[in-house]
Amino acid sequence: MAEFHFVEDYRQLVRRLMATHDIDEAMSLAVGGDWETMGKNLSQFVQSLGLKPGMKVLDFGCGSGRLAHALSRDLDLSAYVGIDIVEELLDYATMKCPDSYKFAINHSLSIPIEGLKFDYAFGFSIFTHLLQTEIMLYSQQIFDLLKPGGRFVYSFLELENHWDIFEASCNQHKYHSRPFPHLNMFLDRNQITIIAEKCGYTVRQFIEPEDGIGQSVVELGKPV
Ligand SMILES: C[S@@+](CC[C@H](N)C(=O)[O-])C[C@H]1O[C@@H](n2cnc3c(N)ncnc32)[C@H](O)[C@@H]1O
Repeated sequence: MAEFHFVEDYRQLVRRLMATHDIDEAMSLAVGGDWETMGKNLSQFVQSLGLKPGMKVLDFGCGSGRLAHALSRDLDLSAYVGIDIVEELLDYATMKCPDSYKFAINHSLSIPIEGLKFDYAFGFSIFTHLLQTEIMLYSQQIFDLLKPGGRFVYSFLELENHWDIFEASCNQHKYHSRPFPHLNMFLDRNQITIIAEKCGYTVRQFIEPEDGIGQSVVELGKPV
């Protein structure tokens, strides 16, 4: 059976970057760049939303450990699990983080975690590369993996705020006759709300790109 679009695209992207850059640069570019600075920003951002020492975190689409590394410097979590689809990214993340930080590879539409419930799940720059059906399937499972009262915070692109990225995506699509180097998905807030509520979440807030991390963010809550 063919691999999912996201596995093929990200695997090839990472391999291209590793062939043309040193390892630190490749691992940074693969997740959007600014590895140290953006990692620190993301860590401060999630702490501003209520992440505290002792909590359990699921980092969905954790990449090369940009957020994980910063979190491990900033606060003492009682569990961190990062999931991604590219082995090379997870190897790098593992090298950069304490042994207590666990990383798992997953190429399916199911999230392979059992016996652990999380206070926070994060999805930074991942639903920006998935289809609505995939977003729905993963959102449902993340809901089940949260404790009652837990939060799911993810970033997204929307036409209104990220037209430059949409235009660049159009040009790449035209040139390569397909999305390149990967799919860029643009969601609007109404779609996010419908998907979230169908899963059982309440929408706590939307955060503007300029008030947070450059992408739009939604904070969802699992009812107590
Ligand atoms: C733009 S990067 C962001 C990485 C990380 N969240 C960060 O902000 O540093 C997107 C990541 O999502 C991963 N990814 C894409 N599709 C995925 C899927 N279906 N399941 C898990 N990870 C996925 C990619 O391999 C990549 O590491």
